[in-house]
Amino acid sequence: MGRIGELVIIKFGGSVITDKSRPLSLNSGVLDSLSKTLSIHNSKKVIVHGGGSFGHYYAKLAGLNTKCKIVEDTNQVSLIRKSMLELNMHVINSLSLHGLNPYTITPFFWSKNLNNLKTLLYKLLSQNICPVFFGDVLPCTRGFKILSGDDISYLLCRLLKPSRMIFCIGVDGIFPSSNMDGPIIRELDYKVVRKVIAKQSFLDVTGGIARKIKIAYKISKLGVDVFFVNGFKPHDFLKALNGEYGVGTCMRGVR
Ligand code: IPE
Repeated sequence: MGRIGELVIIKFGGSVITDKSRPLSLNSGVLDSLSKTLSIHNSKKVIVHGGGSFGHYYAKLAGLNTKCKIVEDTNQVSLIRKSMLELNMHVINSLSLHGLNPYTITPFFWSKNLNNLKTLLYKLLSQNICPVFFGDVLPCTRGFKILSGDDISYLLCRLLKPSRMIFCIGVDGIFPSSNMDGPIIRELDYKVVRKVIAKQSFLDVTGGIARKIKIAYKISKLGVDVFFVNGFKPHDFLKALNGEYGVGTCMRGVR
């Protein structure tokens, strides 16, 4: 497979592109500003987005999380998926308006064959198309489970070894503890990761910030720099896209 040049994987957190305080509400202005910032950055991009007040809202109603679980009322599963497809439509509309050529790939396509996925991604990226993924609800051995956008991001990092991975979150970076006191941690060294995780509380069905840090750590072990930046601040986002340290929280790739 040929080289595709500088590649950045970006996760739009659900708490950034949606308003988590109100079910099914989009932060359209923020989504638009993220797309605009992406459009001025000269790199290949893969986008992943979360569920926020769309998927997470219905996942909570269904009592689903990242573990396989039987659901009595399967209409709830359908509603989770429908809400994610709706949110995805908003995301690709916005990316499209800014000329990013989005192309959504759902987990059913790739969960069985990662080699096929890799080939497809190279094909799309080399033709200036931006693959888009989203957290989803999937059938499992007995019942259903939520596949988070963060887990998808890890898998994509393993497959593509991007120049960097950026998590757009709703705050300025990672705080030392979940009550958000103390200054933002600018460089999250792997030696302190465990301590920081222990001080975070688990807030949503896919594990909140603690799980995010664990995934970021796994990604950094692939040799990929990971940034957590405030998705509400386009300037910070652009700096992270450029790979500038000192913005948000960075976990440097272990090389
Ligand atoms: C959740 O994905 C997807 C569903 C609930 C279906 P994420 O866990 O990645 O979503 P956010 O970014 O935390 O909202």
